[in-house]
Amino acid sequence: MKNFNYYAPTQVVFGRDTEGQVGQLVKKYGGTKVLLHFGGQSAIKSGLLDTVEKSLQAEGIEYVKLGGVKPNPRLSLVRQGIEVCKAEGVDFILAVGGGSVIDSSKAISSGRFFEGDVWDLYLHKTHATKYLPIGCVLTIPAAGSEMSDGSVITNDEVDGWLKKDYCVNEFRCKFAIMNPVLTYTLPAWQTACGITDMMMHTMERYFSKDDDMEITDAIAEALLRTCMSEGHKVLENPTDYASRAQIMWAGSLAHNDLTGCGTSGDWATHCLEHELSGMFDVSHGAGLAAVWGSWARYTREENMPRFARFARNVMGCDTTGMTDLEAAEAGIQAMEAFFRSIGMPTNIHDLIGKEISDAEIEDMADKCSTGDTQTIGGLKVLKMADMINIYKMAR
Ligand code: NZQ
Ligand code: ZN
Repeated sequence: MKNFNYYAPTQVVFGRDTEGQVGQLVKKYGGTKVLLHFGGQSAIKSGLLDTVEKSLQAEGIEYVKLGGVKPNPRLSLVRQGIEVCKAEGVDFILAVGGGSVIDSSKAISSGRFFEGDVWDLYLHKTHATKYLPIGCVLTIPAAGSEMSDGSVITNDEVDGWLKKDYCVNEFRCKFAIMNPVLTYTLPAWQTACGITDMMMHTMERYFSKDDDMEITDAIAEALLRTCMSEGHKVLENPTDYASRAQIMWAGSLAHNDLTGCGTSGDWATHCLEHELSGMFDVSHGAGLAAVWGSWARYTREENMPRFARFARNVMGCDTTGMTDLEAAEAGIQAMEAFFRSIGMPTNIHDLIGKEISDAEIEDMADKCSTGDTQTIGGLKVLKMADMINIYKMAR
């Protein structure tokens, strides 16, 4: 088992009606003037925003509102948020929404005291040294941003857009309020995208060259099986509390590094996907489903027994008498069949609704490899030419 440093400092407040505690939690973590950051309409329509405001008022906490975060959150709104925080003397950011709202909050947090251009942080040119604290009320289990150290932002100020991440421990939320009831209003598509994303967060860590972390593997396999069984239940009955709760907690455990303890991980599928959602503004989860099968077939030779184990232990395939290659293929096909069963695309055509051109593929691979200067992937190290091959397999 590889050495690891597990850091998961977020206080998780989970269950029915927990959003009413938000004012007390902001106070506990020192917030006196809050930026209340949210997305489009969902938190307003459901009455959640109203509940949050009442809770802040009850604690005598001042706040200023900034809504309008779009899925694949935009740099232009981040800049606006930074200016609001400076002008209003904000000392705490409260994200009410999903991964996009939380990621936008994290970007604002990093830009508040940073003297240069916040985008340079996402280009990994430099680091910020001081951040605003963040808390969140999660409304969609998916990205895992509520416990992760990452933030992914789309630069809408450049031609063709550019999606980049920045990861620091200061981005970990002080608290995350998770009430599964708040996820009842999620459309089936968003629910399915979320299930796919959390499964992929687990699989990115599971598919590595390491084979000596049984406890981590066992947790990962249980998490994946749970996502599939409870995912089907939730899609059949969106107001099933027990299933919504399993999925919500799975989303956090999938990306708070628990399933990465002692492994080196891969993350190539995420890198390939970020170019797709950067270029075509598609849902992140759907983009992952569209390329994963091609990535798996391209890289599986690096650890075929692990893919065979995945087929048996996660997908429940009977691999008796099969070679590892046959078992691996059976597992990949079963995973793709699951993605399709929840309405996810398993190729780029179904994702974007048209044939992707060679030029678009080359452009994505160029951005993903920063002009053929960087590689991605831990299981198999992928250069720009490999990225092009995988995109073409997935087209
Ligand atoms: O804007 P509103 O009206 O709120 O609608 C949102 C949005 O359209 C809607 N929604 C959220 N909660 C709802 C709801 N609709 C009805 N009822 C509710 N309870 O769902 C839509 C999607 O929301 P979004 O926040 O974009 O989804 P998600 O949580 O999947 O976040 C996706 C973003 O997270 C990034 C992705 O790249 C993408 O930009 N990621 C962030 C990570 C991290 N920070 O660690 C890791 C991930 O791998 C991922 O890359
Ligand atoms: Zn993801």
